[in-house]
Amino acid sequence: MGLLERGVEDSMSRDERNALLARAARHGQVYLESVADRPVAATAAGADLRSALGAGMGETGTNPGVVLDALAAAAEQGTIASQGPRYFGFVIGGSLPVATAADWLVSAWDQNSAVYAMSPLVSVVEEITAGWMRDILALPEHRGVGFVTGCQMASFTALAAARHDVLRRAGWDVEANGLTGAPAIDVLVSEESHYTIFMALRLLGLGAARARRVPTDGQGRMRADELSRMLCESTGPCIVCAQAGNVNTGAFDPIAEIAALSRARGAWLHVDGAFGLWARTSPVLGRLASGLEGADSIATDGHKWLNVPYDCGIVFCSHPEAHRAAMSLAAAYIVSDAQERDPHEFVPEESRRARAVPVYAVLRTLGRDGLRDLVERHCSHARRMAERLAIDPAVRILNDVVLNQVLVRFERRQGDADALTRAVIAGVQQEGTCWLGGTTWHGMAAMRISISNWSTSAQDIDRSAEAILKVLQDVRL
Ligand SMILES: Cc1ncc(COP(=O)(O)O)c(C=O)c1O
Repeated sequence: MGLLERGVEDSMSRDERNALLARAARHGQVYLESVADRPVAATAAGADLRSALGAGMGETGTNPGVVLDALAAAAEQGTIASQGPRYFGFVIGGSLPVATAADWLVSAWDQNSAVYAMSPLVSVVEEITAGWMRDILALPEHRGVGFVTGCQMASFTALAAARHDVLRRAGWDVEANGLTGAPAIDVLVSEESHYTIFMALRLLGLGAARARRVPTDGQGRMRADELSRMLCESTGPCIVCAQAGNVNTGAFDPIAEIAALSRARGAWLHVDGAFGLWARTSPVLGRLASGLEGADSIATDGHKWLNVPYDCGIVFCSHPEAHRAAMSLAAAYIVSDAQERDPHEFVPEESRRARAVPVYAVLRTLGRDGLRDLVERHCSHARRMAERLAIDPAVRILNDVVLNQVLVRFERRQGDADALTRAVIAGVQQEGTCWLGGTTWHGMAAMRISISNWSTSAQDIDRSAEAILKVLQDVRL
């Protein structure tokens, strides 16, 4: 009898299933136990991984334990140790143990989080978690909250609500009629908006290139005086996109001023706070993000600074009707309960993972103090890293280290500083103590160091700074 005839119950006994899950858990534990000590970069190339994993889907299938073992063996070499304490690339937070464990439960439960009828648990967890976040981030109570895959989708969702609202006020129903013949929307973005804002604008038919770019200052902050001038030139429906946390410098746009200007103009203000939003958990750092409560929508990530596993983005929207109108479309067979939260009303997807569960687990485990400590500790590590590196006269820290980002350039008295900086980045990536990436900042090659993993210690910072300076000393151009 084949698998299908035998039925799911017979195809794997309870003991076999338990053994398989225990095997996966063991592989996960072994991986996490070694992640701090292994080279941070992957040690296998794509070709190695293809030959390790590419063969083996035969007609008759393979024992599931063997499949898991093959994946785990390939992961040892093919993954980047971004779960480890010395990964400083992009803005990638490692996952807190409780978040990983809660995510395993999510997989075991396998809930569809679209509507309350499909999973009362997920609906209620989303509701509670949304309330806790509004509270710790000091955001108004009426804000709608949706859980999406990442900050790009959070901005997409928010800007869909913005598009609805500004066009509704101009007498146009975009959901019914699309954009053909609609009044033009003037979209103002920062010159240094994250590229995912442009992706969201593209997907919404608002055009990436049409958006007008507001000049920024030396730290990458939107200039409020320039925004004011550009808003004066603008007529009709208008959306402003600001950011809390520049991906290179960590700098915050002057949100309070921008919010006041947007409000006076009747523009919708959207803020990309992918990681910077979490500064509001700290009384000291929160000042950087003051005025954010006045934004019409905010996008952020859970999988960055909140240290939940991929994937998790979160959208906050101050206008529940616009949010719902942009995101929901009824169908006769989808049962809605007026008293309960239907998670799909706040996001573009229908069937989806229970992403709020690891967020719930982190917030409840850390509490207010733990969260503030996590964020403040990373910022203090960033300052420590900048200080340690600056000991070498060839190091130039390009940004004011106000948050968890450090931007570094290497310059010797003679020679090409761009080439030197790129060579140091490549050398550090190869050396393996830590991992960080490069960027071009205001026309200069620079090293980006982003600190957002719960397990990073002061010793990890010192060890990494030492390794970076050693590579610098060894680079001969
Ligand atoms: C400022 C900013 N906005 C948006 C994003 C995009 O986030 P995601 O990849 O989760 O969609 C990032 C990612 O680094 C970011 O730093």
